[in-house]
Amino acid sequence: MSIIKKVEPVSDKIEITWAEEDDVPLSTYHNIWLRDNCHCSQCYYPLTKQRLLNSATIDLGIKAKSINHDGNTVTIIWDNGTGNGNGADADADAEHESQFDAHWLKIHSYNPRLIPLDEKLHGAKTKLAQHLWQVKDIESNLPRVDYTTVMNSSDETDQEQAIKDWSLKLWQYGFCLIDNVPVTPEDTEQLCQQLNYIRPTHYGGFWDFTSDLAKADTAYTNFDISNHTDGTYWSNSPGLQLFHLLYHDGTGGTTSLVDAFKCAEIMRDKFPQSFEVFTRIRVPAHSAGEEKVCIQPDTPQPIFKLDNNDDKSSKIIQVRWNQSDRSTMDSWDDPDDVVKFYQAIKDWVSIITDPENELWYQMRPGQCLIFDNWRVLHSRSEFTGKRRLCGAYLERDDFVSRLKLLTLGRDAVLDAI
Ligand SMILES: [Fe+2]
Ligand SMILES: [Zn+2]
Repeated sequence: MSIIKKVEPVSDKIEITWAEEDDVPLSTYHNIWLRDNCHCSQCYYPLTKQRLLNSATIDLGIKAKSINHDGNTVTIIWDNGTGNGNGADADADAEHESQFDAHWLKIHSYNPRLIPLDEKLHGAKTKLAQHLWQVKDIESNLPRVDYTTVMNSSDETDQEQAIKDWSLKLWQYGFCLIDNVPVTPEDTEQLCQQLNYIRPTHYGGFWDFTSDLAKADTAYTNFDISNHTDGTYWSNSPGLQLFHLLYHDGTGGTTSLVDAFKCAEIMRDKFPQSFEVFTRIRVPAHSAGEEKVCIQPDTPQPIFKLDNNDDKSSKIIQVRWNQSDRSTMDSWDDPDDVVKFYQAIKDWVSIITDPENELWYQMRPGQCLIFDNWRVLHSRSEFTGKRRLCGAYLERDDFVSRLKLLTLGRDAVLDAI
């Protein structure tokens, strides 16, 4: 079946009229953009999916000498004697032929954009939908997997399926429990490595600690720690965090989990002015407890990161929320923002501490908790007794890469790049 009805040159662009749907408008592509995205073996190395072409050598006014299509592929022979007259480069590229797959052209159509950016990855909208939750949606059916399934599958296909289930639950709900984990730091570290790379930091790679202030951070005390995400003081906050409570002989130390994406949606709806403030005002942060450490992000970042910051209705892709690590804020663009900011904090805290949104959960030896630190807030209540906790930060981009490949398939993922 043909996807393309007609291809026509128009000035320094080509126009494609689509055959499939009557209501889809035609798409326009700049010649220079097409030439730059040539995937022939001279211009692109298929093995590594990398560009070989030096984009600076393309004539800005490059025109097509001939354009043909068979309904599914567009073939262009470039006329290099035209354009803005950069003769030397043009000669080097004489009679270059490019072929473009219609499906690829459609996915990447930018004028107009036919497929919203977050749907560009075919199937992602449904298969990788995140299920935002409140306590009532989730308390009776917490996302969980079994340690033996993710670690000990004898068959490689079963293993992949188990990792896919685990990744998908973690993505959909922002956290996942792992049951029946042997109560040792060594087994817990292996579990982390089964999913992803451990991120080394000034706390070490895999950590195993008690409330002895071995590191100068409140995590190493027995204080109550209110809802937060970790690492707002890094330019790139840790993506995932895994905890395993190895031992506790006292009381308290309960953990709460909050879906900050859901809470941000509630805020957008209920307190739009405060929502806007959280997407705009950049909040400095630091980690400075250790004698030789003072980590700050390269530039302060807002509490809510949107998919497109120019569009306040776009989806939230990261929440950075940590009251303890917030630095002194002394570079306000508008002094009136001071009160607006503190009002936004009040509105936000009222949402994230609402019992409808805060899920209380008691960690226990043998059950690990892993969560998306860009989405889910965690807290810990004050505790007594000796408490030993181990865990790690895991990289996020690698996790998402694996999630996409396992869930959507490599072909779909590669089509969208
Ligand atoms: Fe934390
Ligand atoms: Zn080429």
